[in-house]
Amino acid sequence: MKRRKILQLSSGALIALPACSAKKDALTPGVAKTNPVPAAQKPVKMGANTQYRPPAYVNKGLRNPNMNLPSSFNGKTATHSRGLSSSPFVAMTFDDGPHPQNTPRLLDILRARNIKATFYVIGGNVDRYPHIVRRIVAEGHEIGNHTYTHRKLTNLGDSEVKKEMQRTQDAIVRAAGVKPRTMRPPYGALLQRQRSFIFSDYGYPTIMWSIDPLDWKRPGPSVVKTRIVSKAHNGAIILAHDLHAPTVDAMPGTFDGLLSRGYKFITVSQLLAQKGQA
Ligand code: NI
Repeated sequence: MKRRKILQLSSGALIALPACSAKKDALTPGVAKTNPVPAAQKPVKMGANTQYRPPAYVNKGLRNPNMNLPSSFNGKTATHSRGLSSSPFVAMTFDDGPHPQNTPRLLDILRARNIKATFYVIGGNVDRYPHIVRRIVAEGHEIGNHTYTHRKLTNLGDSEVKKEMQRTQDAIVRAAGVKPRTMRPPYGALLQRQRSFIFSDYGYPTIMWSIDPLDWKRPGPSVVKTRIVSKAHNGAIILAHDLHAPTVDAMPGTFDGLLSRGYKFITVSQLLAQKGQA
């Protein structure tokens, strides 16, 4: 009974967490032991993360070498759909997270291969799961702005679009202490005029993609993998969604397929910072 009460108080304190997630946190053995202070008196710690332990490397050697490439870009182009590098670099991008189960699972898969990716996160999800955003950043991945509410920006007024950008940027800074450097519009929908003011006001180039496996239609992991691997090219920006479990299921095969063809994974900013990029 006592335990039940703490659970309720705990879930009340973590306002943004859905009941299932808060319950899971509170039921984990060890959490209560390390936090003897009654839940009701605890300050609300956004994204308090007592459960995270870095997963061990699965493979003996690193499959994708560390890419100590510059990530500072200062181009004048407001929209990018691919990198212009002639080297076999690709940027994996994952939209719509963080998701409480699928994103950590994807992070384990990436970590096992030392692959760095770029996550276009939804601000509302960042506020729900800030500890996952911190883990994304801590493991060397890049974070991009994918708006706060995931609405079609072409239907919104300028002030609403700016609010979507700002709220998400603020949430990411709060969660992980880093500022996103690029944005991706939900549904790929953004007017040229909107791209211009987002670029000048926030410094975000709009990042589209050159490979879209349509994973959100859930065609099955092997189809997603085949679509990505067969279309891969130097400088590819590959779109996928860590929101969907089947997409994450497709990633070990996708990554291994690309690695075996000689592709190396870098982040979007590293791709944009390469020579030849406008
Ligand atoms: Ni999206």
